[in-house]
Amino acid sequence: MPIRRSTKATRPKADSQPWLHVNGIEIQEFGSVRMFPLGLTRDARMYSCQRLNQILADTQILYSLYKKHHWLMRGPTFYQLHLLLDKHADEQLELVDKIAERVQTLGGVAIGDPRHVAEITVIPRPPNGAEEVPAMLSRLIEAHETILIASHDAAARAQEMGDDGTNDLLVSDVIRTGELQTWFLIEHLVDTPLIERPES
Ligand SMILES: [Fe+2]
Repeated sequence: MPIRRSTKATRPKADSQPWLHVNGIEIQEFGSVRMFPLGLTRDARMYSCQRLNQILADTQILYSLYKKHHWLMRGPTFYQLHLLLDKHADEQLELVDKIAERVQTLGGVAIGDPRHVAEITVIPRPPNGAEEVPAMLSRLIEAHETILIASHDAAARAQEMGDDGTNDLLVSDVIRTGELQTWFLIEHLVDTPLIERPES
């Protein structure tokens, strides 16, 4: 097909009508990387993108679990946990963006559609209804541990392959945030009375 050049003679009449219902073709496949001059091998970038996309999918599910449990929370510590889980959800959402943009930085394609995320996540699906409070908290802690185990391994492997940026993101952001949030959750599962009854 000849390339249409925009010259005065052939330039079409100005038109501000938006192009609606445009059905494009896929211009980069999921699982591929483009050649970016980052001083990293293609293998290193491919490997990091694959590991990051798994962690990204699981982090998107963790974010959704936080929102679900923020909404469904109940009991005497409702208000405290309702607020805490929302704070953690916000922090996980920031991580989702950072991980996705790391995949893009490496020339890959970040997983985005929730239906695609549901296909590849390894975090178990919760019941659609509400669970008891300790079960909700345990579910979040287990999801954190799944992400932490994957992140420790991926960070070490990324560093071996020379991808210091991915190592730094996983260690400084994903692991540190996950560890801290786990601590805040886990202390709610200690069965200790709020008030001691004095010995009589
Ligand atoms: Fe809310």
